[in-house]
Amino acid sequence: MTLPREILVEAAARWGTPLYVTDLDLAADRAGAWRAALPGALVAYAVKANPDPALLRRLAADGFGFEVVGPVELALALRAGCAPERIVVNGVGQTDADLSAALAAGALVNAESVGALAALVDGSTAGRIGLRINPGLDADTHPHLATGSAAAKFGIALDELPEALELLARPPASIGAHIGSAIADPEPFGRLAALLASLAERTGAERIDLGGGFAGEPEAVASVMRGHIPQTDRLIVEPGRSVVADAGWLLTRVVRVQARGHLVADAGMTELLRPMLYGATHPVFLLAPGAHVAERAWTLSGPICEAGDLLATELRLGSGAGEGALLAIGEVGAYGLAMASGYNGRLRPAQAVIEHGELRLSRRRETIEDVVGRDA
Ligand code: LLP
Repeated sequence: MTLPREILVEAAARWGTPLYVTDLDLAADRAGAWRAALPGALVAYAVKANPDPALLRRLAADGFGFEVVGPVELALALRAGCAPERIVVNGVGQTDADLSAALAAGALVNAESVGALAALVDGSTAGRIGLRINPGLDADTHPHLATGSAAAKFGIALDELPEALELLARPPASIGAHIGSAIADPEPFGRLAALLASLAERTGAERIDLGGGFAGEPEAVASVMRGHIPQTDRLIVEPGRSVVADAGWLLTRVVRVQARGHLVADAGMTELLRPMLYGATHPVFLLAPGAHVAERAWTLSGPICEAGDLLATELRLGSGAGEGALLAIGEVGAYGLAMASGYNGRLRPAQAVIEHGELRLSRRRETIEDVVGRDA
């Protein structure tokens, strides 16, 4: 990942900070690497990772599908121009109404529980119903991000599968699972592929959905999958992070300095929650110097009234890191903007994109009028 310094400085000058910038060409290339590694597979980008409207339009135009959770993401995917046949709907808490609307829209809808399956079957005899199972498979990641273990809330348990198949009374359109996120080792995906291949055989499922969660290179993960499922055109993958993580930057300025070691920035846990929530580390770069400060190891803190509101620790940024310094935080394309909140009266940041070397705004900064606009 190289720092596109000039274009980021220009973006901050045009739209202010905090600002998210997403490189659409890089994201499209990463999605393309999945397509190349799994010929004919449905590469369904997980919208939850980064729902920037320009990013969704670009990926839809390039022929990728979308994995969505719930009716709002489904609407965003359709609005971006994605054909319903290329949309996969997941979600452990979808209502009966959500489920039947998704089926009626023409998407592939995964049942994650026997109850959801009953609602889907009740609502319609047509439509593409898939089964998301709980594979009881542990992968090495942060506990918040492990979704495939037997105790997790996700998916139909293997011992419930006979009941589910009886209820469905036809082969599922797809059988799949999602074992977690930020999984660097390809090995658990091999175990998952082996399990799903045997379940596809047993159930007659048309497609096999390996979910998302990949932190490794697409080719390395794909080669493990291909070993168990050589017909790659049967496959669905739902990568989020591996498509966008490296393609996103959060630009922020140092507002104040506490000489005891804090650079207080105009972005914090409300713009980037990952360091606080998962102890995630993200690289920080000095894009343009501000006031002179002593060189030391700094904590990059946000403006929020919580002591845990930290973006990075042990930062060495040189002597220009004082008030007014412009910083870029990297590897935030996935689950950065997507998890932004309005806590402490914070306005959602503006979003810009880079496409074919050009910068443009994809969503303006939230305003106070937006915040109070729903007051009754
Ligand atoms: N498919 C399903 C059903 C999912 O639940 C997820 C992510 C994905 C695909 C995409 O996973 P990815 O390829 O992006 O790892 N907020 C956390 C990540 C939570 C992921 C939730 N599910 C973070 O900031 O790391």
